[in-house]
Amino acid sequence: MNIAFLNGSYLPLEEAKISPLDRGFLFGDGIYEVVPSYAGKMVGFAPHIERMNSGLSAIGINLDWSQSDWQDLCTQLIEKNGSGNLGIYLHVSRGADSKRFHGFPENVTPTVFAFAFDIAPPPIADKALAKKYTVSTGRDLRWERCQIKSTALLGNVLHFQQGYDQGNDETLLFNADNQLTEASSCNAYIVKNGVVITPPLNNQLLPGITRQLLLDILRRDGSIPVEERIVTMDEVRNADEAWITSSSKEIGAVVEIDGEPVGNGEVGDIWLAAQTLYTAGKYNY
Ligand code: PDD
Repeated sequence: MNIAFLNGSYLPLEEAKISPLDRGFLFGDGIYEVVPSYAGKMVGFAPHIERMNSGLSAIGINLDWSQSDWQDLCTQLIEKNGSGNLGIYLHVSRGADSKRFHGFPENVTPTVFAFAFDIAPPPIADKALAKKYTVSTGRDLRWERCQIKSTALLGNVLHFQQGYDQGNDETLLFNADNQLTEASSCNAYIVKNGVVITPPLNNQLLPGITRQLLLDILRRDGSIPVEERIVTMDEVRNADEAWITSSSKEIGAVVEIDGEPVGNGEVGDIWLAAQTLYTAGKYNY
């Protein structure tokens, strides 16, 4: 049985009910996180909570939860749901109002919902075993506050579906100047001449925790140069390797973009080196 958390209680997921007037339901007015956990060990718990707190404060939701409250919730969900490969989904909406009104209501208690779902085992740093991702491309048509991990994901959903309908795993997104932003549910990277290059953090992309950990791990190791800078569509099409990262995927090697091979169309050596370092270092955060 899948045990979830809703507003202070643990209960079977299918019994968790919210008001249809919850602003998360009506407006997508909320913030969420997905924290990966393998065999009971979470990856990047503290930075995930930090990002959620900055999202909550960016949209003016006041929630009086400490890091140890979140830690306790995650620990309980792991205990209650078995300690396999889990994504711990944390969600805070502005709460249920008594009417539908766009303005922030007063005296409404935020809704806190969490549950655990199965995710794939983490990638093994082995080229022969690596999942090969294929992606589509598209113009990024989301809003201009993509740094906020909002539960309002329709823009992302439509972009994901665009790639999925074409038989692909993701959609790489480009702004009006044909610069790479990210993918619909992942951060994006290219590798050229041994250098890992990813777009800089700004309002066009989510500051991914996997991205944060990966860049830190690579920089501390020092054997693979990293650049955070604008990446053009031409550079993406001429990359030696392309990657996507997210909490549930770690580093995904992209071997095909719009049906064309990336580099030699195989999982690359820099992916292997980076995933090896990530596997070794990810629990230090
Ligand atoms: N997706 N960019 C977007 C738009 C995302 O939705 C995500 C995460 C990422 C990667 O962030 P992180 O490394 O912190 O997981 C980048 C999550 C997993 C999801 O929506 O399920």
